Amino acid sequence: MRIRPAGAPDSGLLLRVLLEAYNWNGEERFTAAELAADPYAARYLDGWPRPGDFGVVAEDDDGEPVGAAWARTLTADAPGHGFVAPDVPELTIGVLPGHRGRGTGRALLEALVRAAAARPGPVARLSLSVEDGNPAVRLYVSLGFTAVGRDGGSDTMVLEL
Ligand SMILES: CC(C)(COP(=O)(O)OP(=O)(O)OC[C@H]1O[C@@H](n2cnc3c(N)ncnc32)[C@H](O)[C@@H]1OP(=O)(O)O)[C@@H](O)C(=O)NCCC(=O)NCCS
Repeated sequence: MRIRPAGAPDSGLLLRVLLEAYNWNGEERFTAAELAADPYAARYLDGWPRPGDFGVVAEDDDGEPVGAAWARTLTADAPGHGFVAPDVPELTIGVLPGHRGRGTGRALLEALVRAAAARPGPVARLSLSVEDGNPAVRLYVSLGFTAVGRDGGSDTMVLEL
């Protein structure tokens, strides 16, 4: 497995990963078409990559992408589910089914945190939203994310870099 920076050609992969994140419990709560038509969901990827966006892709030994994590800043007018402040990028992460439980998600998140810390700016905090019941919360807590608020049935979590 290899981690590399995400670029413009990865937008299709990122859309697949966004769909996995929305359908985290294995049910198809959202189809790809519904996700594409959802203005809230679109905020995470519209125009990727915009200035300020950054992300990482995990590839298997054959160079096939198996997951991704990325972050972008949003605004109070058009926030994400994990919006905290306009200077706090919100992250999205997912590993494709069949590739989970082998350390890829942890490696992606650690690489994204390193990328955030290395950005000019610098990035002081990262945020995310995790729905109640998603075991991904254990990964976030283990990396130092703490819950700072609620949005519907989800926790908003923040990592201080
Ligand atoms: C969450 C996700 C990205 C984690 O990636 P992964 O490659 O499966 O995770 P890893 O193998 O690196 O495991 C990291 C930690 O995740 C936690 N975890 C994540 N999913 C889990 C599950 N289904 N059951 C148990 N633990 C889980 C564990 O605490 C694990 O800790 P460990 O390393 O001490 O075992 C992946 O499971 C996924 O894509 N899930 C669906 C999409 C999703 O939920 N995205 C996040 C939305 S907020």
